[in-house]
Amino acid sequence: MNSVRHNRLCAFDRGLKPVKESVPTVDPVIDIRGLSFRWQPRAPVVLALEALRVEKGERVFIEGPSGSGKSTLLSLLAGVTVPQLGELRVLGRRLDRLGGVQRDHFRAHHIGYIFQMFNLIPYLSMVDNVLLPCRFSKARHDKALQRSPTLEAEAERLLDHLDMAHAGLLHRPVTALSVGQQQRVAAARALMGAPELLIADEPTSSLDADRREAFVGLLFQECVQVGSTLAFVSHDASLEGLFDRTIRLAEVNTAGAEQVQEG
Ligand SMILES: Nc1ncnc2c1ncn2[C@@H]1O[C@H](COP(=O)(O)OP(=O)(O)OP(=O)(O)O)[C@@H](O)[C@H]1O
Ligand SMILES: [Mg+2]
Repeated sequence: MNSVRHNRLCAFDRGLKPVKESVPTVDPVIDIRGLSFRWQPRAPVVLALEALRVEKGERVFIEGPSGSGKSTLLSLLAGVTVPQLGELRVLGRRLDRLGGVQRDHFRAHHIGYIFQMFNLIPYLSMVDNVLLPCRFSKARHDKALQRSPTLEAEAERLLDHLDMAHAGLLHRPVTALSVGQQQRVAAARALMGAPELLIADEPTSSLDADRREAFVGLLFQECVQVGSTLAFVSHDASLEGLFDRTIRLAEVNTAGAEQVQEG
C-alpha cells in the first residue's frame, strides 16, 4: 500500500478527518505531460500523450491493437528512446533531459525490462543471463544479496519460481531453450535485484494458458515484496482483471487524431 493511502486509512481508523496539508505527497513513478514521439524526423507521430500517471506500487495493464504504440511507450519509459516534445518523468527523473549514457545507467539501476523479443545474450547460460543486471548495477547487486546468500542463489530462486530451476537447464546456453523457457529467463533477469519499475512487453505470449496466471502471480508477489511498480503490456484480456488498472492506449494516444488534423 502506498504511504498516502496508508496515512489516509490510519486517519480514518482514528476517526479523524484526513487533513490535506499533513498528508505527505508521493511522487508518481511515471508522470508524462504533453509527450509527442516519432521514430524518425519525418516519420509520423506514433505516440501523443496529453497526460499519463502511474503511482508507486501500481500494477497497470496496458492494452491496444498491434501497432498502437505499446512497445514504443515502454521503450520511452525505459529511456531507450526519448520524446521530441513534452515531459517524461520516471521515478522523479526527467528522462527527456538525460543523455544516452545517463539513461543507460538509469535503466540499469532502476528498471527491469522483459522485452517483447526477450533480448537474451545467446552465448551465456540461463543463470549468467539472469545475473547480468547485477554486473551493471551495484544497487541491484546489493539488493539481490539482501534476498539470498549469493547472487547465484537469488537467480536460482527466481528461476525456481518460474519452474525453470531444473539442474540440467541452469548452465545451458539460452539458445538451447524453448521460446517459452527463454521468456521465463527474461522475466527472471528483469526481476533480479528488485528494480523499482518493472516493464513487461507481452511477457506471457509464449506461455501455456494455464501457466500465465501463475506467472503474473509471481510478478505481483515479487513487486509487492519490494514495492515495485509494474507496467504490463498484453493482448491477453483474460489477465486484465488481475491488475489494479488498465490503460487503453487507443483511448489515450491522440497521435492518429493529430495526423488527421495535419493532413
Ligand atoms: N524501431 C522502430 N523504428 C521505426 N518505427 C518503429 C520502430 N518500432 C516501432 N515502430 C513503429 O511505431 C509504431 C508503433 O509500434 P509498436 O511496436 O510500438 O506497436 P505495438 O503496439 O507494440 O504493436 P504489437 O502489439 O504488434 O507489438 C508502428 O507503426 C511501428 O511500425
Ligand atoms: Mg509491441
